[in-house]
Amino acid sequence: MILVTGGAGYIGSHVNKELHRRRYQTIIYDNLIYGHPESVRQGILEIGDLADEMRLEEIFTKYPIDAVMHFAAYAYVGESVKKPAEYYINNICNTIHLLEAMRRHQVHIIVFSSSCASYGVPAQLPITEGMQQCPVSPYGRTKWMAEQILEDYRQAYELSYSCLRYFNAAGADPDGELGESHMPETHLIPLVLEAAAGMRESVSIYGTDYPTPDGTCIRDYIHVQDLADAHIRALEYLMSGGESVCLNLGSGKGWSVAQVIDTVRQVTGRDFIVKKEAARAGDPPALVGSAELAGKVLGWQPRYGDLQVIVEHAWKWMQRKGY
Ligand code: UFG
Repeated sequence: MILVTGGAGYIGSHVNKELHRRRYQTIIYDNLIYGHPESVRQGILEIGDLADEMRLEEIFTKYPIDAVMHFAAYAYVGESVKKPAEYYINNICNTIHLLEAMRRHQVHIIVFSSSCASYGVPAQLPITEGMQQCPVSPYGRTKWMAEQILEDYRQAYELSYSCLRYFNAAGADPDGELGESHMPETHLIPLVLEAAAGMRESVSIYGTDYPTPDGTCIRDYIHVQDLADAHIRALEYLMSGGESVCLNLGSGKGWSVAQVIDTVRQVTGRDFIVKKEAARAGDPPALVGSAELAGKVLGWQPRYGDLQVIVEHAWKWMQRKGY
């Protein structure tokens, strides 16, 4: 069985669904602070917190766990600057609790949710895995530190890991069953779609004088279903004896905030108010990742690489919810 921590969250729930499609059995361990129980449509949902070591011990004793996929974490960059203690406790201390439970129960495989935030402001694009990691937020530092901890555990205790450094996860389940819903929502694509749906008065562009062709920030948006596929490939790679590895998961393409807004207008056929605002602190002008290594190691290629498709799937899911 596969233990999926944070499996009721946005990326975890898509991975859980894909695991079941490929005939894996799963236990979803989630405290439901940000996760949605209705997103867990397959597998066994065990409500619990990684801070609760007794509960974790109970889970590892109750189920024959073969491998862990670790999504549970706090993931708001801005919040992490204001509340670093919460981020270090949840993303680092609780990851160590999980690793210790794995060690006690001789579970040697982990697929870990890392982030392009671990690179900070890159010296060049596209970002490759060998480039220096110099995170600029507590959130990014928690992901970078957790990667170092996994490497130390590998050397000392025979752990095998895949650290998957996501770029901007976006889109929704192509079947329309699952999608992105954060409380509060801070991510660009859902916010623009909410404006298109009339749920928000307007959408803001944070920064219009960046050194990019149209002056707005560029990001590499990667479809959540492509992320799900990469996770299962990473799991199977480790289960068949592959060496521990850190991989970028991006599309290799960058889209500006203005391009995202145009695409939402095209896909939805709706117009809405766009406001120009000051740049958000800590936002790098452009982040685009090379996924060449993931292609070589996992045979992975993004299938839904087009921004239009990403937006179409996210819109379809919002419409299903009745927006
Ligand atoms: N943006 C706007 N207006 C908004 C919201 C966002 O212009 O209302 C811009 C941001 O400035 C940024 C881009 O849209 O340039 C994307 O912003 P998101 O908040 O959607 O995503 P981020 O790039 O800030 O964050 C993502 C992940 C994080 C990860 C980070 C790494 O969500 O988990 O990339 O930089 F850490």
